[in-house]
Amino acid sequence: MRIGFVQNDPHFGQIQDNLDQVRELVGEQKIDLLVLPELFASGYLFRDCAELRLYAEHTGAGPVTRFLVELAKQTGGYIVGGFAELSGDHIYNAAALVNCRDVLKVYRKIHLFDREKLYFRAGEGPFWVEDLGICRLGLMICYDWYFPEAARTLALRGADLIAHPANLVLPHCPEAMKTRALENRVFTVTANRIGSDQRDFQTLSFIGRSVIYSPNGTLLASSSSDCATLQTVDITLTDARTKRVTGRNDLFADRNPEHYQI
Ligand code: ACM
Repeated sequence: MRIGFVQNDPHFGQIQDNLDQVRELVGEQKIDLLVLPELFASGYLFRDCAELRLYAEHTGAGPVTRFLVELAKQTGGYIVGGFAELSGDHIYNAAALVNCRDVLKVYRKIHLFDREKLYFRAGEGPFWVEDLGICRLGLMICYDWYFPEAARTLALRGADLIAHPANLVLPHCPEAMKTRALENRVFTVTANRIGSDQRDFQTLSFIGRSVIYSPNGTLLASSSSDCATLQTVDITLTDARTKRVTGRNDLFADRNPEHYQI
């Protein structure tokens, strides 16, 4: 199975240009599961709710989710990508899972980071896992990584692979995801962006350094902090199906929840 990420360099509010850039990065590559960053088409640093609303869309009815379905026709596989989802009066920081026909599912970010709390509504959960046949897939978005419970919940629900669209601004996640992969024995794909959103009220720079880890914590792919790129890797998915780490240790069978205060 071939998996990959796009690390893009979006320009705030330039949706069509940002979609074109992703289309060019992907080219003619065939990829079974491709992960794009959080809010990859709109940019990240919104002034307020009114501005965010200009870039939000109903799932399947706006330029970003329609583009993802078109892109899936090109890659021949599944795609996960972040967008601002309009639903009723609310806007969620969301990620769509699509194939070449339609949007299959949407995950709404549960842990909102910093200014996101001013204009996004937090996802109501629960974390879900979708059996795609080629893999059991779970999603989380960026800051969700700080909560080991998020990846653990996905793994306990059967995820082989965690797709992790991100817009990272703090430095720790690319290394930390090794632990998320290792402690759950899952594949992880963190797709981050580069560049910065320079607004008159604030500037935010994004760290790039997208990463793919295997269930034993091996770094399978990584990218720089300043290059827009596509990276792919071939994996043996069944590596995530055993949680065994020694002859006497199975990470899930050895859990002892009665001693955990969660
Ligand atoms: C983040 O959650 N975008 C840092």
